[in-house]
Amino acid sequence: MITNPLRDPRDRRLPRVPEPCALVVFGITGDLARKKLLPAVYDLANRGLLPTNFALLGFARRDWGDEDFAELARDAARKAARTPWREEVWERLAGSVRFVQGSFDDDNAFDELAATLGELEGTHGIGGNAAFYLSIPPAMFPIVLKQMQRTGMADSTPDRWRRVVVEKPFGTDLASSRELNELVDSVFTADDVFRIDHYLGKETVQNLMALRFANSLFEPVWNGHHVDSVQITMAEDVGIGGRAQFYEQTGAARDVLQNHLLQLLALTAMEEPVEFSAEEIRTEKLKVLRAVSLPEDLATSAVRGQYEQGWLAGQRATGYRQEEGVDPHSTTETYAAVRLGVETRRWAGVPFYLRTGKRLPRRVTEIALVFKRAPHLPFADTDTEELGNNQLVIRVQPDEGMTLKFGSKVPGSVMEVRDVAMDFLYGEQFTEASPEAYERLLLDVLLGDATLFPRNAEVEASWAVIDPLEEFWEGTTPQAYRAGEWGPRAADEMLAAEGRRWRRP
Ligand SMILES: NC(=O)c1ccc[n+]([C@@H]2O[C@H](COP(=O)([O-])OP(=O)(O)OC[C@H]3O[C@@H](n4cnc5c(N)ncnc54)[C@H](OP(=O)(O)O)[C@@H]3O)[C@@H](O)[C@H]2O)c1
Repeated sequence: MITNPLRDPRDRRLPRVPEPCALVVFGITGDLARKKLLPAVYDLANRGLLPTNFALLGFARRDWGDEDFAELARDAARKAARTPWREEVWERLAGSVRFVQGSFDDDNAFDELAATLGELEGTHGIGGNAAFYLSIPPAMFPIVLKQMQRTGMADSTPDRWRRVVVEKPFGTDLASSRELNELVDSVFTADDVFRIDHYLGKETVQNLMALRFANSLFEPVWNGHHVDSVQITMAEDVGIGGRAQFYEQTGAARDVLQNHLLQLLALTAMEEPVEFSAEEIRTEKLKVLRAVSLPEDLATSAVRGQYEQGWLAGQRATGYRQEEGVDPHSTTETYAAVRLGVETRRWAGVPFYLRTGKRLPRRVTEIALVFKRAPHLPFADTDTEELGNNQLVIRVQPDEGMTLKFGSKVPGSVMEVRDVAMDFLYGEQFTEASPEAYERLLLDVLLGDATLFPRNAEVEASWAVIDPLEEFWEGTTPQAYRAGEWGPRAADEMLAAEGRRWRRP
């Protein structure tokens, strides 16, 4: 990092710019690289957040030269960049773009990659620093890691850093995630491993920590004395797109519950960290994940569903089993909901309801704290018929912001109390647009800041929650729901049995 001796090193208000370095992307021709990574690299360059001495290397099988790659990168960046397009920024970046052709089992290609990195030290002054992004099918992680080990590319030394970015899924259960972690940790040192959960790069998710730990207003009520229950939702209106093969083997619980939703739960339920550092925050999150409990009776406290044909936004939507590439008798869930507990003094007895699903009525991710009713209401019952529980809703996406729902008197001559909402919208309060999650996370990787990346123990603790659920569901058929509905009826019944109901965001 370039530092100014007059600045307090803990002062993060000025933009942080990484040291000279290279970013190597394996799987550069893939979906993720084109849609997210290349645009993020351009946006960082456009915001002046990449070092002057920077190189971008792509690795893939096609018979391409540097120029073909530069063209793909330009198209991808131009199509999906968040910030305005400036040709001069791209021109500067294009001068440091390299392509290495080869397959992952090709030793020569990795030798060439190592040699190219060496050359770039001389021509682009990258100082030997490099981050390797594994934007590749998970089955390919072992072979690529071993190649990096073989060529010595993974070795950090006192003069240079080498880091690896691992995309989810981090395994498919506890045993396979342990195996993957052991492999990654045998090639890279733990501090050089960055596991991406892109939800943690979202501004609102980080704001959750600001909200809780920078204010005195919320923390006193952030516990089981005042909170009745917590609902964490990640709803998508889309289906599975072209990812049938991946989704058929994965399902909603492994795809979203295990990572995004449990990470959101951890940030919601964790204690205040000693300081705002990677080590301390990850330590607090891990404590929560280890304290998560599944209810004894999974039959009444977990629901899996699968969408059938229906209607969404006035359009007919295909059923899951009719999607291209999906087994017509598939039992993969496209919806999962579960009631979890957090066995700590703060949260004992408070249910955390987590749900995720595809082809739901709208795309929304939110965390809602539902508060207990006032212990006594000095009004006639009829005055408060329209009064619900107070709620604090943190909207992760879209319309990033927060809503506080509480009761207020309806204007008029009678005492009628009804729910009203007080809104905070990021877009209204701040003029600067939030960076894309991948933009923020890529920058953090290059800066070596691991605060927003889950540690291996967190990943394993999360699988320890999901494994029993998957075992329980094994061999069962998910409950049907129509595309465009908020999941199967059983999910509503699960909450109704406890006198609660899901929010309809
Ligand atoms: N797409 C998303 O939105 C998304 C979201 C979250 C996480 N992820 C994760 O991100 C990773 C990448 O996903 P993706 O959707 O981008 O996958 P993808 O579209 O299938 O791309 C895979 C890439 O890997 C390369 N590749 C595959 N086998 C190879 C081999 N033997 N040798 C050399 N290159 C090889 C392909 O290169 P060729 O051009 O040579 O075939 C391609 O560039 C996965 O781990 C996925 O789970 C993706």
